[in-house]
Amino acid sequence: MAHTITLSVIKADVGGYVGHCSMHGDLIEEATNRLEESRIKGFLVDFHVTACGDDLELIMTHRHGPDNEEVHRLAFDTFMACTDVAKRLKLYGVGQDLLSHSFAGNIRGMGPGVAEMEFVEREAEPIVIFMADKTSAGAWNLPLYKIFADPFNTAGLVIAPSLHDGFRFEVLDVKEHKRVFFDAPAELYDLLVFIGAPGRYVVKAVYSKDGDIAAVSSTERLALIAGKYVGKDDPVCIVRSQGKFPAVGEILEPFTMPHIVAGWMRGSHHGPLMPVPVFQANPSRFDGPPRVICLGFQMAHGHLVGPCDLFNDPSFNEARRLCNIIADHMRHHGPFEPHRLPLDEMEYTTLPVVMAKLRDRWEALPA
Ligand code: F6R
Ligand code: MG
Ligand code: MG
Repeated sequence: MAHTITLSVIKADVGGYVGHCSMHGDLIEEATNRLEESRIKGFLVDFHVTACGDDLELIMTHRHGPDNEEVHRLAFDTFMACTDVAKRLKLYGVGQDLLSHSFAGNIRGMGPGVAEMEFVEREAEPIVIFMADKTSAGAWNLPLYKIFADPFNTAGLVIAPSLHDGFRFEVLDVKEHKRVFFDAPAELYDLLVFIGAPGRYVVKAVYSKDGDIAAVSSTERLALIAGKYVGKDDPVCIVRSQGKFPAVGEILEPFTMPHIVAGWMRGSHHGPLMPVPVFQANPSRFDGPPRVICLGFQMAHGHLVGPCDLFNDPSFNEARRLCNIIADHMRHHGPFEPHRLPLDEMEYTTLPVVMAKLRDRWEALPA
């Protein structure tokens, strides 16, 4: 069998600088040093460390397969080491996403977000990695639909023989812990019934019709993991590109329409998802608006040739401008929905306290 390579993107917020806005350089340095040790030992083939807002992103290639205990342990130990650096600098929300400090074999369910895929590297293997801050896993539903199922977005679905059969979507019900597969285009309307509700139904992966992995997203929902809100998930998503998969430009095109996602201030507001280059991924206005960065790599025998900062392109200026216009409009709603999330989806709430205080003042309506 041909040699397979695994691409693991594992991320966590282990301390913000300043507040929840950005990443201190010392954390990037610590993570880089840790992963470099593993690369020198030959455990990792290659890696790249970056940040989106307050989230530290470990992009790693190796030959150990997805859900490998030692790869997850390396990510966990790296986040713990970075937590120590954050502690020393008294950064904000130290260790925020590490729900437990003892590793039990798999980092899934411990707080960090995980997206992993294993495949046989093609003659040329362009990889696109999206990383977001101040939003949650369902934020990828709309762009993944457009990339892999919308012919108005992806010209190849209509005019490229290699894409014309369509794709298969794997959708999770994050509340019931169930999954279902849909074939596009045959079952588009069924698919949309579910993924149009991204708080509950999340696109986990997309496959070509011959079963090859095309995209995978992180689907951890911290709120559900912890039983109470402890931070937005700030998800990542890996997409393979070109040939039998959508072109890089088809993968980026959905982000020219800043769609509205849940997150932003206190994880409790709707706002537009702003596509930015890495150096602009510091969500400061009202702790936002939510950001997405996108790094492209050519893979060469598992090595990550890159990154190419794909949103560092003036052709996304209008999307960013539109985000600011939408952000102004949303902000004018203040504490009213639909800017503020519905009561049951807010990360912060004073509702139980206010309810308790007013318990005796509610009167039955006259008949
Ligand atoms: C949103 C986020 C921030 C914080 C806000 C309050 O995901 O991280 O908007 O919720 O800055 O933070 P605390 O409660 O830590 O003061
Ligand atoms: Mg934070
Ligand atoms: Mg974050």
